[in-house]
Amino acid sequence: MNVLLLGSGGREHAIAWKLSQSKKLGKLFIAPGNAGTATLGINADIALNDFEALAKFVIDENISMVVVGLEDPLVNGITDYFGNKPELQKIRIIGPGKIGATLEGSKEFAKEFMVRHNIPTAAYISITAENINEGFRFLENNNPPFVLKADGLAAGKGVLIIDSLEKAKAELSDMLNGKFGQASKKVVIEEFLQGIEMSAFVLTDGKSYKILPEAKDYKRAGEGDTGLNTGGMGCVSPVPFADNDFLKKVEERVIAPTIAGLQKDKIAYTGFIFFGLMNNNGNPSVIEYNVRLGDPEAEVVLPRLNTDLLELFIAASEQRLNETKIETINQTCVTVMLVSGGYPGNYDKGKEITNIENTIGSLIFHAGTKISGNKVVTNGGRVISVSSLGESLAVASEKSYYNASIIQFDGKYYRKDIGQDLLKYI
Ligand code: AMP
Ligand code: GLY
Repeated sequence: MNVLLLGSGGREHAIAWKLSQSKKLGKLFIAPGNAGTATLGINADIALNDFEALAKFVIDENISMVVVGLEDPLVNGITDYFGNKPELQKIRIIGPGKIGATLEGSKEFAKEFMVRHNIPTAAYISITAENINEGFRFLENNNPPFVLKADGLAAGKGVLIIDSLEKAKAELSDMLNGKFGQASKKVVIEEFLQGIEMSAFVLTDGKSYKILPEAKDYKRAGEGDTGLNTGGMGCVSPVPFADNDFLKKVEERVIAPTIAGLQKDKIAYTGFIFFGLMNNNGNPSVIEYNVRLGDPEAEVVLPRLNTDLLELFIAASEQRLNETKIETINQTCVTVMLVSGGYPGNYDKGKEITNIENTIGSLIFHAGTKISGNKVVTNGGRVISVSSLGESLAVASEKSYYNASIIQFDGKYYRKDIGQDLLKYI
């Protein structure tokens, strides 16, 4: 089966790597891909929201499945676009339709869904310019820190956590005035949840689901969780504090009611659901839904999967996921993200990356890289995700850190403390 994978991050390199292990895979195309995916398939330079061009490519290349790695095309309706065209209907799309993708595309929609289906989440209020005074009152009646979220997609920047009431009020006004463009014309204000974060993942066909290994992401740029928010600086799976009791609660209180909720609401859904969770004294609350795998979560989740990913996708697209079994590798996976100096602020691109061939014992997933002449050069903020499996968190992280030190490019930076906070739970 020929497959087209959409995206260009470490997540997509990891998905491409896992798909490449399948005997069922024919040709693999990645749009737009990166220097890493180019070693596993054929990169195609097509804009991800040019559905017409993607459809033409799918037909020309005899592609039977499109795997959508990132949220943008899903929120923009790629699955419905293919589903509504007779000549494209037989193409299997891994990723929900526009309504399902709204679980990520609108915080308000996600909140209403969770309330409707009794899924634990922080108390909230939804505010527009019309009811801004209600927003001010909600803030006055709550204690800091205050959590303000742009309703729409804001490239991971739309969540503000603020300590002072005055500043929260000012930010609410700025957001409604377009601080994050159209995305913040509506703002969800919510109660601040205490606890420690982790993420759970399922693949679903809308009826049944398979739970993938859980993970913990490190979002802040600086060691000790300081500095600006990034797309993710590293990740660990499994998560030592997520014991069986907690994971059982996650399934019973969050995962199962979410899938049942999709059915009750008649939302067809084939793809991943990523549950951003807060663990508060052993009880899970949902912080957010994403309608795809995480990045860098995919770079630790997929290496722990001992099951043919393409077979799972085929089963999901035929609503036969209940017939499949997921086998997990009982080792720890740690990934360390090598980033361009200055990220998530301004950074240079085009720096030559060397020494990848001298790494030993890790999976090297490319993120912002491209081929330039006969060189591999940096092409983004997050450049390479170094993932390693090991018998323990300490062993896996030692391998990743060894190889992180080997790979070279001008301005290379990475956090040295990925997973350190988890050692106390082991
Ligand atoms: P989100 O984009 O919704 O995942 O939010 C980004 C980050 O903000 C999350 O990963 C949390 O660290 C934090 N956050 C979001 N909502 C809350 C909340 N209600 N309470 C505490 N922290 C939150
Ligand atoms: N690492 C967080 C995300 O993919 O949304």
